[in-house]
Amino acid sequence: MNIISLVVWTLEKNCFIVYTALIVCFIGFTIFHKNRLDIHYRNVEIKEEKLARTGPKKKEREFPDDGDDDPELLLPAIPEDTPHIPYRPPRKSDEEILQKSREYYELMAKRRTVRCFSAEPIPQEVLDNIVKTAGTAPSGAHTEPWTFVVVQDPQIKEAIREIVEQEEELNYTQRMSRQWVTDLKPFATKPSKPYLSEAPALVLVFRQAYSWRSDGKKRMHYYSEISTAIAAGFLLAAIQYCGLVALTSTPLNANARLRDLLSRPANERLELLLPVGRPHKETTVPDLDRKPLEEIMLKI
Ligand SMILES: Cc1cc2nc3c(=O)[nH]c(=O)nc-3n(C[C@H](O)[C@H](O)[C@H](O)COP(=O)(O)O)c2cc1C
Repeated sequence: MNIISLVVWTLEKNCFIVYTALIVCFIGFTIFHKNRLDIHYRNVEIKEEKLARTGPKKKEREFPDDGDDDPELLLPAIPEDTPHIPYRPPRKSDEEILQKSREYYELMAKRRTVRCFSAEPIPQEVLDNIVKTAGTAPSGAHTEPWTFVVVQDPQIKEAIREIVEQEEELNYTQRMSRQWVTDLKPFATKPSKPYLSEAPALVLVFRQAYSWRSDGKKRMHYYSEISTAIAAGFLLAAIQYCGLVALTSTPLNANARLRDLLSRPANERLELLLPVGRPHKETTVPDLDRKPLEEIMLKI
């Protein structure tokens, strides 16, 4: 009897034991693998949960593009062959620029936020010009990410006032911190905003987070926040220069309702609401100090 015949004979003689051993091995193997699979799926779940909480590991680009663009077909939002033209403003002497800088500082130092307006109307062209001035501001990649909605219609002003006052009531009583409400006390601001219906014009500054190109592609607006803030600065300077006053206000939590009221699209966000006009003859302003030059300027 050779060795193979001996093994076969032994297995046949003990087939009950052999089959039992095989079944035990099969069950053991299945349980072992099921546990390993359970551990694997649990780890995958943990990873997915963590990813959902913290976002992808790879740092996302600040201004992602659509992703599916063929780099060969990418076109700039304004024509690549935009000509570069000479820019030669008349040269001014040191005395002239010194004089201008003093005059402009003195003019701007008189600017104050006013919360009580005369109802006297403002010529339309003045409003056009101050908004045109705001529109001359620089912007990231010349995206001009702003819309200035100028409201003079008394009914719309009233509707704006109603929305802002409702939201401000909640802001003051529930949303703002007690410290914030306390810090506002010197300015005597309240949820009630009569200036929203009294001022002859309200300028609502909307920031466009993005826009659409004529070819239907989404146009990215780089640095839309700071660009719109600079334009608002130009607007305030123009208001001051022409002898009018404004109140720089930020109606907290009123963005969506005011955007709907004024039919502005979803890519726009209300940044500022500026009542503009002449000051009421009885108006007062808090007697504030401004930081001296040494505190705001470092000469290196
Ligand atoms: C971004 C910003 C938001 C402001 N929001 C409000 C506001 O919601 N309500 C208000 O009465 N004044 C508001 N102000 C006005 C400030 O209170 C005012 O500029 C500050 O007290 C300094 O006074 P001045 O503008 O007269 O120099 C705001 C000013 C800025 C720049």
